[in-house]
Amino acid sequence: MISKVPRRRLLKALGLAACSPLISRLARAGENEWVLGFGSCMDGRKSQNFWDAILARSHNQWLFLGDNLYPQTDTLHGLKAAYEELACSEKLAQLKARVPVRATWDDHDFGADNADSSLPFRSDSIKLFREFWQQSYASEDDGVYSSQMFEHQGRRIHLIVLDTRFNRTAYQSLRINDEQEEGSSQPDTGAACEPTLLGARQWQWLEAELEKPAELKIIGSSIQVLSFQHRFEKWKNYEGEYQRLLGLLGRISSPTVLLSGDRHLHEISKIELVSGRALYDFTSSGLNKAEGLSRFEHNRLRVERCLADGFGEVRVAWQGNSPVVTMSMIDQRGNLRFSQSDVLV
Ligand SMILES: [Fe+2]
Repeated sequence: MISKVPRRRLLKALGLAACSPLISRLARAGENEWVLGFGSCMDGRKSQNFWDAILARSHNQWLFLGDNLYPQTDTLHGLKAAYEELACSEKLAQLKARVPVRATWDDHDFGADNADSSLPFRSDSIKLFREFWQQSYASEDDGVYSSQMFEHQGRRIHLIVLDTRFNRTAYQSLRINDEQEEGSSQPDTGAACEPTLLGARQWQWLEAELEKPAELKIIGSSIQVLSFQHRFEKWKNYEGEYQRLLGLLGRISSPTVLLSGDRHLHEISKIELVSGRALYDFTSSGLNKAEGLSRFEHNRLRVERCLADGFGEVRVAWQGNSPVVTMSMIDQRGNLRFSQSDVLV
């Protein structure tokens, strides 16, 4: 179940007057909120103007949701070179010095556009990723998925970050048509096994993670989970996996927010689970690669959209043990472009 928080009440709960300049006040996060910043699609060859806006914020955790670099060639050599370039980023070093950073990958930093488990150098790619990001993972050799439980004011926020690349069934584009609704790409139907995005071991791990008690779960997926009318990569291309995930989220006791990247736009999609609880998919893409290609893209689940470069913020406060979740998009200049708040009960 979900209840909408009137803007005036929300601002009061956050200690803000309704006429306050929201962006500057929110930038000074206090103990009353736990704040996650996240972004995706960071191209080393494009302007890096987004860093100061990120560094000006107060985040408890930062999450890179994939396509964190763009190799010039779809080769292991190109991937190494892109990591070497990113390693020279002083701004990234500053972020890491201030805020705990977690990451997953998407196709480009996995190794190639639309890459899947057939990527010939995937075992080398996983070594590069782990060496670069230096974080704890749930598995030694099955991808880069991970989780972390945060405590905030006596409540638990469980961050789960998926790997939608390493075990993904080989992918085959069947139709290319921007006007086509209901998706236009499907997994290779010639595969011997049921197409998968996560693979058996990651699913087993995810089911165990979802059973862990928490007042809020935040799940990061490099590709969009809910939006389904576009022709690009999405969970809906893997119908069985999509239904399995939504079935699980409909059965667990914790409210959940999904985060995603990949799509070169910022938007929030929303559905109602079988439990009656709202499920949001907050997409932040890209940090400097929001290309506006999707201006006319259909998404009947959309509640917010912005085609500018920037990043996402998820702010969590509490109403009793229910999380008051505010999802905001901040552009490269530090301006608030949209914000959506709800109490998830
Ligand atoms: Fe991608």
